[in-house]
Amino acid sequence: MERFSPQVVRVFIERENAFVIVGMDGTEAVCSAMAMYSDEVGEGKIASIAVLRRMRGQGVGAQLLDECENIFRKRGLRKYSLEVEVGNEPAISLYSSKGYHAVGVINDFYGLGRHAYCMEKRVSDDKGVKLEIS
Ligand SMILES: CC(C)(COP(=O)(O)OP(=O)(O)OC[C@H]1O[C@@H](n2cnc3c(N)ncnc32)[C@H](O)[C@@H]1OP(=O)(O)O)[C@@H](O)C(=O)NCCC(=O)NCCS
Repeated sequence: MERFSPQVVRVFIERENAFVIVGMDGTEAVCSAMAMYSDEVGEGKIASIAVLRRMRGQGVGAQLLDECENIFRKRGLRKYSLEVEVGNEPAISLYSSKGYHAVGVINDFYGLGRHAYCMEKRVSDDKGVKLEIS
């Protein structure tokens, strides 16, 4: 798992086109998500989703992903994307179960020999298409 430096987390907090979600169990931070987006391009990118080991397998990761997508949807973004390390089965399963598909591989993305899948999800316009059958 990648660890972001405090400086990078600060950038996500302070930038207008980025956000950080932190889930608390009492006074302890137990999960987080970081994402950024471009209204011009219409794309939201999930940079990180992480759940403390003892809290995993209870739907928390899925909830974080849903919350990121809610924020993207409210902004009218239609394409959601992320990178995930090849072999990170829990994360790949999570993203696949939410409709993300691998669209490419970036070699050495996480360091030498540690490749990443680029995954994407495209959502349709909220208005949808109205069909009338007579
Ligand atoms: C990936 C991660 C965020 C998942 O969080 P989680 O709270 O355990 O996930 P959830 O309980 O919400 O599970 C949602 C779905 O993810 C998949 N999943 C989660 N853990 C899994 C595992 N160990 N093996 C296989 N699939 C898994 C399943 O499809 C699951 O749906 P199901 O419960 O209906 O089977 C968590 O394992 C984690 O923090 N990993 C370390 C950080 C990391 O690698 N983040 C991703 C970086 S891109």
